[in-house]
Amino acid sequence: MPDPTDNIIECDDVTVRFGEQTVLDRLTLNVRRGERLVILGGSGAGKSTLLNLLAAETRATSGQVRIDGQDICGMSETQLDDYRKSIGVLFQSGALFQSMTIGDNVALPLREHTDLDEETIQIIIKMKLELVGLREHAHKLPSQISGGMKKRAGLARALALDPKIIFYDEPSAGLDPVSVTEVDQLMIGLNETLGVTTVVITHEMVSAFRVAHRLVLMDQGQFVADGPPDEMKNSSDPLVYQFVNGLAEGPLADRRDRDAYTADLLGAY
Ligand SMILES: Nc1ncnc2c1ncn2[C@@H]1O[C@H](COP(=O)(O)OP(=O)(O)OP(=O)(O)O)[C@@H](O)[C@H]1O
Ligand SMILES: [Mg+2]
Repeated sequence: MPDPTDNIIECDDVTVRFGEQTVLDRLTLNVRRGERLVILGGSGAGKSTLLNLLAAETRATSGQVRIDGQDICGMSETQLDDYRKSIGVLFQSGALFQSMTIGDNVALPLREHTDLDEETIQIIIKMKLELVGLREHAHKLPSQISGGMKKRAGLARALALDPKIIFYDEPSAGLDPVSVTEVDQLMIGLNETLGVTTVVITHEMVSAFRVAHRLVLMDQGQFVADGPPDEMKNSSDPLVYQFVNGLAEGPLADRRDRDAYTADLLGAY
């Protein structure tokens, strides 16, 4: 189990605004080294924004984000590039380059960010594809493999530079139940064998509870619950209960802004 005193990710009072909209609202989050954290939350809650912030693709409007003790908000572009090399990201929309083979997709970060010779790169490609069970498919184009295999290929690419943290944004979206289980096992396996800290956004509850050491529930740019799987599963908090059980009725639905809807309809006149 992760050491509770060793935080690899520390977000302190972080706010992200896009124009008028506050998408992350004074968030505080600590993730322990080696931990598998699952982020839950409705569409638009701010999950991908949080992940983009941690991956240094989005800047905080205020607050601090420290990764491995370093404040990424104060980094120069060159420092940020180095930081980005030290993490792996499977973006929600993260597609493979369609015109490149799976092998070349995995090689891309190595060719871009290292001076390794081609022979070494070919060996690393094989190792990374073996980790995700795709070694035999290196020569194929993305269009020639299934959706689940594409996710795994994306993961192999995210692993290319031996990241210390991997961020997964809905890695199971659109996959059949068997592929979902395979991706879960892969995330757990990589965490356990390589010790890589794992942050996963998912809407798949079975998957969330299978993968997580700890879950957080986001709503309107804030964390509304935080706890280990058992605690979250049996939570009597109506909001957590509604979300985890996928109920249509409950505080999440009640709180949706009916006034804004009415105003919008009336505004149409
Ligand atoms: N770059 C951006 N510019 C402006 N608004 C943005 C930007 N990125 C996200 N948003 C807005 O921030 C809010 C949260 O978006 P985000 O993508 O973080 O949601 P999410 O929780 O990942 O949702 P989903 O489950 O649908 O993926 C949305 O209202 C979205 O429109
Ligand atoms: Mg998202």
